[in-house]
Amino acid sequence: MRIRRLADIDVLGKRVFIRADLNVPQDDAGNITDDTRIRASLPGIMDALARGGALMVTSHLGRPTEGEWNAESSLAPVAQRLGSLLGRDVPLVRDWVDGGAWHAGLAAGDLVLLENCRMNKGEKKDDPALAQKMARLCDVYVNDAFGTAHRAEATTHGIAKLAPIACAGPLMAAEIDALTLALAQPKRPLVAIVAGSKVSTKLTILRALAAKVDTLIVGGGIANTFIVAAGGRIGKSLAEPDLVGEAKAILDQFPGKVPIPIDAVCAKSFAADAAPTLKAIENVEPDDMILDLGPQSIAALKTIVAKAGTIVWNGPVGVFEFDAFAAGTKALALAIADAPAYSIAGGGDTVAAINEFGIAERISYISTAGGAFLEFLEGKTLPAVAALAARA
Ligand code: 3PG
Ligand code: MG
Repeated sequence: MRIRRLADIDVLGKRVFIRADLNVPQDDAGNITDDTRIRASLPGIMDALARGGALMVTSHLGRPTEGEWNAESSLAPVAQRLGSLLGRDVPLVRDWVDGGAWHAGLAAGDLVLLENCRMNKGEKKDDPALAQKMARLCDVYVNDAFGTAHRAEATTHGIAKLAPIACAGPLMAAEIDALTLALAQPKRPLVAIVAGSKVSTKLTILRALAAKVDTLIVGGGIANTFIVAAGGRIGKSLAEPDLVGEAKAILDQFPGKVPIPIDAVCAKSFAADAAPTLKAIENVEPDDMILDLGPQSIAALKTIVAKAGTIVWNGPVGVFEFDAFAAGTKALALAIADAPAYSIAGGGDTVAAINEFGIAERISYISTAGGAFLEFLEGKTLPAVAALAARA
């Protein structure tokens, strides 16, 4: 898919509207607990500033009620963090859609943050009238919010159709490039790891990837449903009986592509201090819960990962939050880090595991996105990307 890129646009003296994804996690007091997304947005901001753009940057934060301002959803903490990362003051503009000519004095090298875009009525519905007002604020619209690219909202979609110029920022471009590299013409074997609690939330991804990859490694609650589909025992483990048929259909359609765990670390309850017991799958008892992969299963997966040309990873394969049940996720994470393959990972839990095991530098690309990453894996066209492509 061809899209214009910020790097190819002359922004000197132009008003540049950047839609970033600065939707960062915060604690109860409003402190930012992880500023990865703010840091990931810096290259686009710094590039446009360095080349003489007059910048207005916005993002959503959470899901506030439209048409109302509230302190918890304010981008004020983000403005502050952005300011300290850039070493300059970043003013926050509150009524930026209907608030008059606040942008009249915006000059080359200026940077303001526009308050949470989801406080504007019509943002989430992609209201064309709102998008038109936003488009009039700028000469160049830049979408650098890959994390929100699966949403068709006024700042991610409507404005892209109306602004004089619409292009992708460097983060958006890097995310699309990395995912395209992994999925469009991957170096084989292509191995996908899809784990997490539910088959139901990832069924379309499992189906789409099963058709595309050489090996589809399933983990967590998803693996349990596949174990049942393959005729194995899971006791009282988390699984979805309704989806066993779907899992069986994937196994039947793609024989040998989905390795089924042969052993597991079990416990009688879901707790950090539950006693871990290693069992072959055929020995799992009715009151057992599978909380991690066993060593034989891990060894088999490590061999597959070591030989991969490309690895796509979403979801931890065990309950890695509990030390006694973290070995599988850790071993697989280290195997991915050690593998010569091009590796790409995304999703909140996956990135948390990567950081926990200290392997971030050894993953080829870590996405800043959750939902958008998954929808890309499903093979869906992301509306924000499509809107940029339509303007290329
Ligand atoms: C995310 O954190 O997943 C993105 O910023 C999108 O947020 P949303 O799910 O509220 O649209
Ligand atoms: Mg979300």
